[in-house]
Amino acid sequence: MALMGERTANLSSIVDARRANSTRYKAIAAALAALRRGELVAIPTETVYGLAADACNARAVGKIFIAKGRPRFNPLILHVASVEMARAIGIFTEEAEKLAEAFWPGPLTLVLPMRPASLVSDLATAGLPTVALRVPAHPVAKALLVAFGGPLAAPSANRSGHVSATTAAHVATDIGVAASVILDGGPTGIGLESTIIGLAGEPTLLRSGAIPRDKIESVIGRPLAMPTVDPDAPAAPGMMKSHYAPAAKLRLNVTSVEPGEALLAFGATMPEGADKAAATINLSESEDLTEAAAKFFAALRELDEKAEAIAVMPIPEEGLGEAINDRLRRAAAPR
Ligand code: TXA
Ligand code: MG
Repeated sequence: MALMGERTANLSSIVDARRANSTRYKAIAAALAALRRGELVAIPTETVYGLAADACNARAVGKIFIAKGRPRFNPLILHVASVEMARAIGIFTEEAEKLAEAFWPGPLTLVLPMRPASLVSDLATAGLPTVALRVPAHPVAKALLVAFGGPLAAPSANRSGHVSATTAAHVATDIGVAASVILDGGPTGIGLESTIIGLAGEPTLLRSGAIPRDKIESVIGRPLAMPTVDPDAPAAPGMMKSHYAPAAKLRLNVTSVEPGEALLAFGATMPEGADKAAATINLSESEDLTEAAAKFFAALRELDEKAEAIAVMPIPEEGLGEAINDRLRRAAAPR
């Protein structure tokens, strides 16, 4: 192994779990064994890939922070198989019950007060009295969680602050050998992280994401508060100013493309200079925000390899557009 090129070693940990057959069953068994040994496993979810560890094993959780190069103060999302398991860890309010009923399994994370008796490692919650919980809908994540029978801490499977991974190959590039097993479930369906709602006090939109704000507000019957941001102790790394960042410089809401820039397009009407762009990816010619979300992170990665600067066309601030624009603003923020 020591003589193997890094790339070969990285790719060798990808195991196929794309189809519901015995190959997937074996892949999940291998992932389960690795988790039980306290190792890391990359898992597909319906949003983005996650880098998972046994949430009750502090040494295992510690490996996540090392693999991601993530600041220690950032707490992780705990993934569980069912709302029953979530209730054993977090204290559900009436609004939490309503949201879980409406959106689980699915791309919603609830931040709730944690039950004092939960066995979750302090490292996973960053020592906070609250816990972030989510029941993912992806069949591979679900099967693994049911077999594991406990919470898996899993942030997005990319290096901290970088573009999130929506394919197994992107995970291998970013995280490489840190994961003993990378379960390949194919490209993720949604492509943006879960929406995070804080329910330890007033219902708060901690991170915009795969479920648009208005859908959540209509379930709880009142508007979501916005978090008060303490820049030294952000409640969510997704709330830090520079995040989801490619190496290339981003220019947002462009009406023309400068020489040398690549173009991240949206819609059918191209800006001035688009014909001279170094490369172009259209997130959705038909202005479909769901299609745009699914292509978003992979498009950023691809254009990042082709140019030093990326011009981004305006994307409407409605529905999933709020979450896409949030990622774009952070990706464009000074580092
Ligand atoms: O879609 C997703 O949510 C993906 C997939 C893998 O499930 N996961 C993900 O995890 O995006 P991560 O670690 O990149 O983002 C987790 C967010 C962080 O911003 C973290 O700070 C926040 O959840 N979080 C976790 N516990 C929290 C808490 N107690 N209070 C406030 N925010 C919390
Ligand atoms: Mg992330």
